Amino acid sequence: MKRNITPFVLLLISLGLSSFLCTRSPMVQMEKSPNMVASTDSPIDKRVDSLLRLMTLEEKVGQMTLYTTDWGATGPTIREGYTKDIRSGACGALFNSHTVKFTRELQRIAVEETRLKIPLIFGYDVIHGYKTIFPIPLGEAASWDLTAIERSARVAAIESTAAGLNWTFAPMVDVGRDPRWGRVMEGAGEDTYLGCRIGEARVRGFQGKSFAQNDAMMACVKHYAGYGAPIAGREYNSVDMSERYFRDYYLPTYEAAVKAGAATIMTSFNDYDGVPASGNKYLLTDILRKEWNFQGFVVTDYTSMNEMVNHGVVANEKEAGELSANAGVDMDMQGAIYQKFLAQSVKEGKVPLAQVDEAVKRILRLKFELGLFENPYKYCDEQREKTQILTKAHRDDARDMARKSIVLLKNDQNALPLRKGAKIAVIGPLADNQSELIGNWSGAGEAKDCITLLTGLKTNATCQYVAGCATVDGMDKSGFAAAVAAAKAADVVVVAVGEKAMMSGEAAARAELTLPGVQQELVEELVKTGKPVVVVLMNGRPLAIPWIAENATAVVEAWWLGTETGNALADVLFGDYNPAGKLPMTFPRSVGQVPIFYNEKNTGRPYDPNSKWTSKYLDLPNSPQYPFGFGLSYTTFGYSEPQVNKTTFKKGEDLQVTVNVTNTGKRAGEEVVQLYVRDLVGSVTRPLKELKGFQKIMLQAGAFQVVTFQLTDKDLSFYRRDMTFGSELGEFEIMVGGSSDNVKKVKVTMQ
Ligand code: NOJ
Repeated sequence: MKRNITPFVLLLISLGLSSFLCTRSPMVQMEKSPNMVASTDSPIDKRVDSLLRLMTLEEKVGQMTLYTTDWGATGPTIREGYTKDIRSGACGALFNSHTVKFTRELQRIAVEETRLKIPLIFGYDVIHGYKTIFPIPLGEAASWDLTAIERSARVAAIESTAAGLNWTFAPMVDVGRDPRWGRVMEGAGEDTYLGCRIGEARVRGFQGKSFAQNDAMMACVKHYAGYGAPIAGREYNSVDMSERYFRDYYLPTYEAAVKAGAATIMTSFNDYDGVPASGNKYLLTDILRKEWNFQGFVVTDYTSMNEMVNHGVVANEKEAGELSANAGVDMDMQGAIYQKFLAQSVKEGKVPLAQVDEAVKRILRLKFELGLFENPYKYCDEQREKTQILTKAHRDDARDMARKSIVLLKNDQNALPLRKGAKIAVIGPLADNQSELIGNWSGAGEAKDCITLLTGLKTNATCQYVAGCATVDGMDKSGFAAAVAAAKAADVVVVAVGEKAMMSGEAAARAELTLPGVQQELVEELVKTGKPVVVVLMNGRPLAIPWIAENATAVVEAWWLGTETGNALADVLFGDYNPAGKLPMTFPRSVGQVPIFYNEKNTGRPYDPNSKWTSKYLDLPNSPQYPFGFGLSYTTFGYSEPQVNKTTFKKGEDLQVTVNVTNTGKRAGEEVVQLYVRDLVGSVTRPLKELKGFQKIMLQAGAFQVVTFQLTDKDLSFYRRDMTFGSELGEFEIMVGGSSDNVKKVKVTMQ
């Protein structure tokens, strides 16, 4: 509906509502947490209230409605004609629209052609970069480098906001202990503590210092809650676990990201304890709002509201909308349920108007905080779009992050680093394949901008490239002979094998964790030549690769490293950068061990290979192929026995733990020093170890450093027998080391 602005302004003034239209009023500046909502008498709240009073019920519902454009979809496109919806005020937020030109035009419709001229927000899955693509989040997690991870998110935000966006559907903080689940690529792995720290870093990176700045975007913590634990690792499957387990391991990452200031949170597809997350009042109101005091808005995942009909907890979509609204969902992503039914449900008294008003206020508040009422085109700056995307500096950041994400899993005979000038046979379907390197969820990233492994290696060596097998999952072995011939003629073989990018991510669960197709057979042929064989793995999840772990000379985990893949790999393989990555997720020997994770419990019959009647398999050891926290370097590190400042301490007192770490090898290198704790006797069973601290240090050859950790009461706390959170008196083991399976211990007693 077109309206002449002048009578509209006069109307507002006569209503005493000029504060809403006060287009030049100063933004509320937030020092630390950009989404911190202003107190009720703040200028923003007054403006929100003024605006709310002007809105019809239908316009309110419009603000609670999010649609995809036709630029992309990550689910069924059940809604056409989004421009019509914008124009009528039926849609207040869009996703899958980016670039200045496109978002400017959509924004123009909202602020020039709708009755209330409320600006749109623009969301997108900016997961590991917008155009300059960084490693997949699981890869970044392997860096254990919070500064670099924050920087990666910052670069993503700078580029996204230069392309019209102001909202990313990230970070995904779902703890993932099952590598069959393809979405583990998008998270920080299996550990709660590491996941909390990484989630916080990513929220800080995306949101920057203040929403007043034009390069800050809203984060969206997802997928709340428990999405990382689908039964059998199968995507979209149910989640069921004890409340204790849920609170100890799965909830803390969402809480940490919320407390880091995330502006929004997304519900998950799954049910938890029988109630789908998008209609789960316990999760959305009792925990999120009441326990954590979350002030931002809640959006569903893509049509997850509609899917509650399939879940079988509501008979139809109207009921689904009522369940969601009453549970605390503020915005419906793509489901069109709020648009179709919510006003009617309010009129029938099924959803209180106050519930709708609160949701709309939360959404409007963030639109005000972003400064969109002052300048709806704040993120539509052609100059920024031309100069701040895929810059040399951003590529350098991506290369640095990529090097830090690489994990050296095996290095027999010091096969690595490679000699510069060596004759290398570069083999494998992924060795010169630009299109896979950006991985899944790659924003606006383009294959043509990617540096392949072959291109990277060529900078320092004579390379002969033969694919060996043309595709990752094909069965054609006709290229094997040429690959073997190239291997025989070379000093060393570097073979890149793994998955396709789309084999991980959403809707990409796998029942097998082996290398697809004939890739392992190709490696077997190469190993038969007797030449040193360096296997470079490119994949979005832990794989089960026992034969390769046993028989390859060296194994390098490269995940999907993004735009700078080849340069980063060349830096590591030639030794210009000493790898320091540590696995954020356990690599099993076989899919049969899954779920497998380091912080398991002792059980009543702990593993004993010599006793049948213990907790074990008949056909495999319990231990994984590569444990959590594991990763080699071109140097070695020695650890002293850990020391504590007191072996007995009082409840509530901090404990200081120190360890002397020495670089015992011949090269400078970085080490991730990890601290674990175990409560030896608790009112409930406790894990054998739990990560509670880590520090990444750089040591010159022969140098040492005393590393100090401060352990607080919270680090020793858990949900006790009565479900209160706290520590318990008694003995604890404090463990320090360079991998979860290689630690030194000291015992302390809380009295
Ligand atoms: C579905 C995915 O689960 C979610 O992570 C994503 O943000 C939305 N689609 C939007 O693309």
